[in-house]
Amino acid sequence: MAEITRDVLIVGAGAAGLTAANDLRKAGLSVAVLEARDRVGGRLWTDVIDGAMLEIGGQWVSPDQDALIDTVEELGLETFSRYREGDSVYVGPDGQSHRFTGEMFPVSAETERVIAEITDRLDAMVAEIDPDRPWEHPNAAEWDSVTWDAWLRAQTDDDEAVRNLAFATGSAMLTKPTHAFSLLQSLLMAASAGSYSHLVDADFILDKRVVGGLQQVPILLAERLGDDVFLNQPVRSLEWGANGVTATTDDLTVSARFAILAHAPVLYDRISFVPPLPRRQHQLHQHLSMGFVIKVHAVYDRPFWREQGLSGTAFSPYELSHEAYDNTNHGDERGTLVGFVSDRNADGVFELSAEERKERILESLSHYYGPEAKNPVVYYESDWGSEEWTRGAYAASFDMGGLHRYGADLRTPVGPISFACSDMAGAGYQHVDGAIRMGRLVASQIVDSSRSTSEAAESN
Ligand code: FDA
Repeated sequence: MAEITRDVLIVGAGAAGLTAANDLRKAGLSVAVLEARDRVGGRLWTDVIDGAMLEIGGQWVSPDQDALIDTVEELGLETFSRYREGDSVYVGPDGQSHRFTGEMFPVSAETERVIAEITDRLDAMVAEIDPDRPWEHPNAAEWDSVTWDAWLRAQTDDDEAVRNLAFATGSAMLTKPTHAFSLLQSLLMAASAGSYSHLVDADFILDKRVVGGLQQVPILLAERLGDDVFLNQPVRSLEWGANGVTATTDDLTVSARFAILAHAPVLYDRISFVPPLPRRQHQLHQHLSMGFVIKVHAVYDRPFWREQGLSGTAFSPYELSHEAYDNTNHGDERGTLVGFVSDRNADGVFELSAEERKERILESLSHYYGPEAKNPVVYYESDWGSEEWTRGAYAASFDMGGLHRYGADLRTPVGPISFACSDMAGAGYQHVDGAIRMGRLVASQIVDSSRSTSEAAESN
């Protein structure tokens, strides 16, 4: 068992942990990043599958995501825009596909009016929410006690309007059934992107990608840290107290003054804490759970939908794959579609054999793009639910009432232990941008705390 000592030990080499480690290093503190997997990046993972480069985890960058954009620029990475020329497709309750251009999809004039009115109402509510402190809103307790679905259904009897409004934060973001989380949680999701309108605008929220894949962000951040990143080192136990922390993996013991747990909160209980974490953390961590979505990649010999004048942007709350996009790589002659199958639909298709699941999912994509969609040359399903060190996608959210009851304590350090990951961000919540923000925040808090401890020691 090798033993090392650092100022700060960081558990998790995702965007949050690696950002924190780099910032701490810049401030003159020594670090060790302990990563359970045999690679860095966590939920960012680019791989070549059957000859096709696929972004298995996170990939898109939106214009409000300053922290991620700064990092991408600082690392010298290039971005490119998602292909969006041509018509989008909406499949309505009649099961028919309808082409459209512009922001509003083809529904009846009355449904359009209802959607516009409720969107305005939501934007006004979201404008009052501080994404860093949604629990402080005067209506927070009330909004956290009503489900997102129930609130929408109380606004209108128009089922098509409700389903379309619901899925922006439901299937598309929190990836949980809309009865499983609160209105407040939904407003936080929207506030983290600036407004509800931003979330429903694919041209905003799914704006750009990084040439070569977004996993380059953690890969380049890790390169700067060199030998201070330790792969294949799941942290099994963490002893902590007034004098610091000691983490133990199967091969290493790392002692430090501070620790950062930079991974999804659902994984805290994989670590044995000595002494146990306080009562509040024991309770609050049980009220967070991961969403669940399958990201489906289908690669074709050419982007055939463009020949039909389609942009590739397609969605429907009635389809198995509730949204799909042109995901062709930069400079690639082949065409790639990406589709998403969320929450209960994902549960359902995992009951099927792999062959039947593929058939059902491609059938759904064919409703948007026609029969050619059924014959990709490469097909792959990102299944984060079976990844031991993530356990779902895209991120964690609170159960009913949990955000108001526990949200304020989620980021609160416990002794020398701090917490940072995308799942507790305000701006950029559930996104890489939020992970970077949390990494920066926690690093700056540790630097301050380290300085004040040193100053106190010098003055004694
Ligand atoms: P992350 O989970 O990435 O990293 C935590 C690390 O800790 C992991 O590497 C894990 O192995 C490690 N770990 C856990 N327990 C450990 C232990 N006990 N010991 C040692 N190591 C341990 N975002 C976005 O901005 N745009 C997008 O398009 C998408 N799309 C998207 C699609 C899919 C399929 C997924 C799964 C996710 C996205 N996201 C996204 C979300 C985004 O990828 C995610 O929010 C961040 O990458 C999370 O970064 P963190 O560093 O917070 O955690």
